[in-house]
Amino acid sequence: MTELELCCKAMEAKKRAYAPYSGFCVGAALLTATGKVYTGCNVENAAFSPTICAERTAVVKAVSEGERDFSMLAIVGGKGACIDPATPPCGLCRQVLAEFCAPDFPILLVQSETEFIKCTLGDLLPMAFGPGFVKE
Ligand code: THU
Repeated sequence: MTELELCCKAMEAKKRAYAPYSGFCVGAALLTATGKVYTGCNVENAAFSPTICAERTAVVKAVSEGERDFSMLAIVGGKGACIDPATPPCGLCRQVLAEFCAPDFPILLVQSETEFIKCTLGDLLPMAFGPGFVKE
């Protein structure tokens, strides 16, 4: 699975976004250590706060299937079918990723159909409060 292939999986997932309120559609693709890809899209709700982001959808799908070892995440967002260059994950999603991923975990932010920028979870969430603080 190349980085661009993972971005393409995120772009496919974005097409499945349910975003009737914001119109902002997000797709995510999470590659696991076993080579599987779990995708996610945002799923909005009329009561607004039950909305779940694409990234957390992908993480929850993976964890609920028994996978916790992640190697890379690609994210794409934009209004409708558009791509907003480098849509970053929200704070909640960063925190959820920090539960399972180290600071060097690579995150690809899609810029266009063929381009992405690469950062790490540590870039996006420095000094994360992670499980190491709480676990016995
Ligand atoms: N959204 C995501 O799916 N991921 C993020 O990290 C940022 C925000 C979604 C939530 C909501 O459906 C829409 O984008 C607008 O905030």
